Amino acid sequence: MRLTKKDLLGMKDLSIDEINLILDTAESFIEVSTREIKKVPTLRGKMIINLFMEPSTRTRTSFEIAGKRLSADTINISASTSSAVKGETLIDMARNLEAMNPDVIVIRHGASGAPHLLAKRIRQSVINAGDGAHEHPTQALLDMMTIKAKKGRIAGLKAAIVGDIAHSRVARSNIYGLTRMGAQVAVAGPATMLPRFIEQMGVTVHHRIEDAIRGADIIMMLRIQMEREHQNIFPSLREYAKYFGLNRKNIRLAKDDVLVMHPGPINRGIEIAPDIADGPASVILEQVTNGVAVRMALLYLLSGGKA
Ligand code: CP
Repeated sequence: MRLTKKDLLGMKDLSIDEINLILDTAESFIEVSTREIKKVPTLRGKMIINLFMEPSTRTRTSFEIAGKRLSADTINISASTSSAVKGETLIDMARNLEAMNPDVIVIRHGASGAPHLLAKRIRQSVINAGDGAHEHPTQALLDMMTIKAKKGRIAGLKAAIVGDIAHSRVARSNIYGLTRMGAQVAVAGPATMLPRFIEQMGVTVHHRIEDAIRGADIIMMLRIQMEREHQNIFPSLREYAKYFGLNRKNIRLAKDDVLVMHPGPINRGIEIAPDIADGPASVILEQVTNGVAVRMALLYLLSGGKA
């Protein structure tokens, strides 16, 4: 089976079959990263541009590693070293990159919809590596891969997503993906962090973390986005940690074999206690490992590969 899309822009656009294709392909690539020589010739001669207009550690590095492990050439461009600082528009920049004939452009941008705009204007495949507060589909796919690897399934599981749902592209992509794959999703956060009409996305809404994580198979904690949030969204970080942080006391409400997830970077002691982030239920670093395999799968499938 092939992925017939030109671009990967969001989880909202993916069918169950497409999600399964990506996850199965990613699983087949896991082994490459465990070899002594971590390289296969699959994408030799292909060129991937990572255009990161916002900071990133995990996503940018794993896209670069994914490309290199498939023998593609990879180029990284960041906002501060690009002609965006001279006032060049995103479309002009993308059309100039298009003129150099790469095969895939991976883009992270602070504006929701930026990857969609690019995908319409250039002939290359575009992968959304996070656009504003809209979507982060590769994060949701690596999260689902981690859940499937640990639990053997996604359907029927109870997942709690806790934190700033309103501003989180990770939450939005996971809600689309997990509900489509048959999981039950509960969200919790302060009222100022819960978007209106969120229940229309098929989730249950709670105002206390305890109510969302009770009986959960999966707890996904969201990062407090210091760079985006204004102080008036919640009174203080100390109070946020007290009422919405995951800690050794409230985690007891979840199932004994609960998985604790976080997209990173984590704010230790705010949304998650350090002993929980580093504890036996945490799969945070396995999420990062699976991120390389998911991105290898997407680069392969969007370049015409088949499973
Ligand atoms: N999860 C995630 O997107 O992390 P980075 O911002 O480091 O890429």
